[in-house]
Amino acid sequence: MPGAFEELRSEVLGCTRCELSTTRTQVVFGSGPSDAAVMIVGEAPGAEEDRTGVPFVGRSGQLLERVVAEELGLARDDCFIANVVKCRPPENRDPRPVEVAACRPYLADQVRLVAPRVVLTVGNFAARLLLETRDGITRLRGRSYPFGDATLVPTLHPAAVLRGGAVAMASFREDIRLVGAVLDGAAA
Ligand code: URA
Ligand code: SF4
Repeated sequence: MPGAFEELRSEVLGCTRCELSTTRTQVVFGSGPSDAAVMIVGEAPGAEEDRTGVPFVGRSGQLLERVVAEELGLARDDCFIANVVKCRPPENRDPRPVEVAACRPYLADQVRLVAPRVVLTVGNFAARLLLETRDGITRLRGRSYPFGDATLVPTLHPAAVLRGGAVAMASFREDIRLVGAVLDGAAA
């Protein structure tokens, strides 16, 4: 549905539904094909993303991109990549519940229109929002979850992996490998 997707993009690019619209440089709608098999959902744009308009281009994004390439053989342009909130929170603070609530319908529309086979959530925010749970990512990760017609695989945020050393990196890799198993039909 390319028409509907482009309509959504232009709506979101001009959005002023929450306060983050007053401090952002630009909206970071999301990147990648609107018919991608894999959708990656992060938390919020950071400084680099706010500057470029593209999600996951900073240090976290580079790690994510590398592990997705190594474990899945997919380039970033093979995946649709978006965030829970589309505008950068000032000083990279956590998005507030009112902001997440305001932006949530856009993510829901993106999931519906892209209709991916696997949704890979990175970090607490995306996993908690999409799985409708208060559990933390260390509890949630390591398995997959039914998610409408798709399968959801939650993993750590790459920023946490960068801080977390070898153990965090091993978990991150394992989760991303699970995405591959789901795509291959070898896991639910
Ligand atoms: N961290 C995120 O969660 N999303 C981005 O786009 C960049 C960093
Ligand atoms: Fe709109 Fe979402 Fe940006 Fe808030 S974060 S202004 S709801 S696009």
